[in-house]
Amino acid sequence: MVRIKKVSVLGSGVMGHGIAQISAMAGYHVTIRDIDQAFLDKAMDKIKWSLSKMVEKGKIASSDMQSILSRITTTVSLKDAVVDADLIIEAIPEDMRLKKDTFSELDRLADPRTIFASNTSTLPITEIATATSREDRFIGIHFFNPPQLMQLVEVIPGAKTSKDTVSIALEYVKSLSKEPILCRKDVAGFIVNRIFIPLVHEAAWEMLEDKASMRAIDAAFKFKLGFPMGIFELADYTGLDVIYKASKEMLARDSKVLNPCPLIEDLYSKGFYGQKTGKGVL
Ligand code: 3HC
Repeated sequence: MVRIKKVSVLGSGVMGHGIAQISAMAGYHVTIRDIDQAFLDKAMDKIKWSLSKMVEKGKIASSDMQSILSRITTTVSLKDAVVDADLIIEAIPEDMRLKKDTFSELDRLADPRTIFASNTSTLPITEIATATSREDRFIGIHFFNPPQLMQLVEVIPGAKTSKDTVSIALEYVKSLSKEPILCRKDVAGFIVNRIFIPLVHEAAWEMLEDKASMRAIDAAFKFKLGFPMGIFELADYTGLDVIYKASKEMLARDSKVLNPCPLIEDLYSKGFYGQKTGKGVL
């Protein structure tokens, strides 16, 4: 079985930089790849901010910060990103064509033993894997935002993923001090989004049709159902753009998976994405 020493992360956005950071914190050598050096510089700033926060909260020693940072390198070259990589985790935009093209190029560049993982939140793992000649060494490893603080990680084998690859992915997640859950079927939304995305739509219907106030619904989630945030607060935090696109993708895979509320499309079309744009449901 491959022993993971070096992890490469494709994409330096919210998920990519977080996955890179927690991998470096667990002792792995990490390369982050993005298409523009400015994105990578921004990602490194976010990692430094996050690590400083952890030092401030006593979660890591200040002496660890420098060694964690020294294990992270950045590159704009896909060819350089794959060198010596045992595991490559893709966290690029949620577009099937883009993901397939990227994995197909990676397949030509990377060592045949390298394991490929996608952090997709809804796209079918089995289908993305077909862009490669290593469907047995292809798997979904789905982190949650912010990866630095969220304990749960979904591991999703595709139809041809080998048992070895599943074991390696589970071990890798555990080595990050995270809790993996195995998604036994490559279904729309996997385990978490299969529940979370329809919940956002149901809450939106409740507000739109049943005249419940946003405040009352959020209070119910936070103070009765025990969520760390109200459902609309969480939708704004996750991004209405992410939720809208995930909804569309899930519906394309299974028309009965959720009852789409027009409020979500309306907010998306107005560019009200939540925290990232300053306006969302709230
Ligand atoms: N790194 C380090 N520290 C961070 C951080 C990061 N990336 N992000 C925030 N923090 C800090 C905050 O600044 C804060 O510090 P402060 O006290 O000095 O201000 C500290 O962490 C803790 O923040 P809170 O006091 O708000 O602590 P909470 O106990 O509320 O925890 C939370 C924050 C973990 C985000 C919690 O609110 C939570 O679990 N929310 C739900 C998040 C969630 O469900 N995410 C999943 C979204 S769905 C998804 O990602 C899937 C996709 O496929 C759609």
